[in-house]
Amino acid sequence: MMQVPPISLTIRERGEVVGVADGLAWIKGLPTARLGDVLISECDSRALVYQLDERLIGAILLEQSAQFSAGARICSTHKTLTVGVGDSLLGRILDPLGRPLDGLSNPNTTHSRPVESRSPPIMARAYVQRPLHTGNTIVDTLLPVGRGQRQLIIGDAGTGKTAIALDAVINQKPADVRCIYVLIGQRRSAVQEVITQLRKTGAIANTTVIVAEASALPGLQYLAPYTGCAIAEAWMNDGHDTLIVYDDLGQHALAYRELSLLFRRPPGREAYPGDIFYLHARLLERATQLAPEQGGGSMTALPIVPTEQGELASYIPTNLISITDGQIYLNQNLFASGIRPAIDIGRSVSRIGGKAQDRAIAKAAGRLRLDYLQFLELELFTRFGTKLEAGMAARVARGRQLQILFGQDRLVPRPISYQMAWLVAWNEGWLADLNPEQLKQRLTQLMTIATTPDALPPLDASHERWLAAVAHWLERTL
Ligand SMILES: Nc1ncnc2c1ncn2[C@@H]1O[C@H](COP(=O)(O)OP(=O)(O)OP(=O)(O)O)[C@@H](O)[C@H]1O
Ligand SMILES: [Mg+2]
Repeated sequence: MMQVPPISLTIRERGEVVGVADGLAWIKGLPTARLGDVLISECDSRALVYQLDERLIGAILLEQSAQFSAGARICSTHKTLTVGVGDSLLGRILDPLGRPLDGLSNPNTTHSRPVESRSPPIMARAYVQRPLHTGNTIVDTLLPVGRGQRQLIIGDAGTGKTAIALDAVINQKPADVRCIYVLIGQRRSAVQEVITQLRKTGAIANTTVIVAEASALPGLQYLAPYTGCAIAEAWMNDGHDTLIVYDDLGQHALAYRELSLLFRRPPGREAYPGDIFYLHARLLERATQLAPEQGGGSMTALPIVPTEQGELASYIPTNLISITDGQIYLNQNLFASGIRPAIDIGRSVSRIGGKAQDRAIAKAAGRLRLDYLQFLELELFTRFGTKLEAGMAARVARGRQLQILFGQDRLVPRPISYQMAWLVAWNEGWLADLNPEQLKQRLTQLMTIATTPDALPPLDASHERWLAAVAHWLERTL
């Protein structure tokens, strides 16, 4: 009898692109494709399954190509989207698919992670208990951020949101914190400005930049924060501390709304789809402080969201306020009156950072916030020409000095030892009798001391040692 050789058959589905427009595609003939699967066309363009209708599949384009058009063949990889992770990404500027945008070769990654993944369960998490110094005086003394915290930066256009986030990244250079700066839907000039400053300050060596600028496909803008998060997660799971900036989630929500409307999902409030809250919650829940058994790594997140005319109650900002652990609110009026940074101390809050603040700083900054808020109230009266009694006038004078102390140019993050030094001097009244010019000189002097190695004791040294050191440099007698 004749032997029939065994025939091995593989069944492959072959889909066909029905239509392509506005960064998305409709596809027929892929009955087993699942949500989130990567599809690949005959011209090697990728798309991501985003919607399953009865007859057609909706996919978001990850690559634009002229050949990717109606009639093109397409099949599913049956895999979800992953991105290469690891130290070879430091210093690199990448798109949300991990492809280089800096003209260098593909990063040499040995591992990859799914772009979307679940946030760590409660049992794998620890309390936020270590500070992350941002280099900003107001933040580090009054609105402290802890490692693993999610602190929103919110304010009108052009009020200095990016400046604060960028300073925080630059300030991680001496600390061993790996940073990811995600730019979503930003103008090219804004993208270039961030990259230039990271390069100029050398902070790029410690940072990965993910860019999906305003002209990028909406699908890429939608993916960018999740890609950045996956890269940070890999480091966090290896026991490292990480800081991720999402600049900004308002643009991210717009990209998502655009996709959802194009896919004809029912619009809800402000035409955003119903699951818009989940979009950001599932992203920000991935930032945390891991428990010691999990390696003790952390991911601190600084999401940015713009407001219009200071309106905190609009849809996306309120969602984000409720998802995060506090907010740094930048006030357009303060900015217009020349105050830099324009942080509105009264409307900013850090709900958990206080527990993570360095003890010495927390103690020294004690009543500062209250004193300052009282000053702002008193100052209102002085505008009406009311004559204040001596005690109150002194308070106003102190408040004005605090305003000078809180003033800070961008791109000059300040070391935490500087913050401690001025707090010590302030509490002792050593800065009280100075006029604005003298005060500024004193602060410059303190900054020089704080950046001189060993000039000041470590932060956890005794109060007496700190007093003695600051007194010595300011030539004060105890
Ligand atoms: N502390 C500061 N000192 C001096 N200038 C500052 C400071 N902070 C911000 N600026 C300036 O204010 C302008 C706006 O800052 P920035 O781009 O950070 O604002 P933004 O809120 O991120 O704006 P957008 O909403 O357009 O993204 C910039 O020209 C920046 O140089
Ligand atoms: Mg900005």
